[in-house]
Amino acid sequence: MTERFNEAAAQWDSGDMRQNIAHSTFETIASRIALLPHMDILDFGAGTGLLSFKIALQVKSVVGIDLSEKMLEQIEAKNSDTVSVTPICQDIMNEPLDQKFHGIVSSMAMHHVKDTATLFETFHKHLKRDGFVAIADLEAEDGSFHSHGNEGVYHFGFERDALRQTIEKCGFISVRFHEAYTVVREDKSYPIFVVTAIKV
Ligand SMILES: C[S@@+](CC[C@H](N)C(=O)[O-])C[C@H]1O[C@@H](n2cnc3c(N)ncnc32)[C@H](O)[C@@H]1O
Repeated sequence: MTERFNEAAAQWDSGDMRQNIAHSTFETIASRIALLPHMDILDFGAGTGLLSFKIALQVKSVVGIDLSEKMLEQIEAKNSDTVSVTPICQDIMNEPLDQKFHGIVSSMAMHHVKDTATLFETFHKHLKRDGFVAIADLEAEDGSFHSHGNEGVYHFGFERDALRQTIEKCGFISVRFHEAYTVVREDKSYPIFVVTAIKV
């Protein structure tokens, strides 16, 4: 999977689809959660930083975590005196960071992680008290979203009720789903939600 993202990194930002998803995800998050100037935020599966840089304009700091060094090099290349994101290549599910965050955001990375419960336990460990998660991903789909094939895709989107239960079991409350964007292709459409929740 990481090899594929490394290969895709240089062209990742071209085309409208990923830009539109990141834009709508950001708008959905910002309309539901107060992003404040004192906040330290983690972007899980940050990729080239399409979401991270939008968040970074609102808060004190953003760490972009990813397994693909080439994707993170794109973040490094975009960093400037005006806005920056700290790229870290680390599997935080096995090797947690020392830092705790006010919030964790993510766009289109959760379906690449096999064990969703362990992922939310990991998020819980990385959050300060009352910290939030705001995670964008696909509603349940038929496996046709990834037109290049499904290597490294562990979930064909998510059923809301099952995901809500997983998130609650991992120590979160106020789990809410918000419609963020719909990718439309020929005769199929792929809705994307943002799920928000608060660490107990
Ligand atoms: C579909 S891309 C989304 C990238 C970016 N969030 C965006 O919206 O453009 C998924 C990203 O998640 C990363 N990823 C997958 N599993 C991961 C893991 N366990 N830890 C960190 N990053 C992961 C991949 O390397 C890839 O960059």
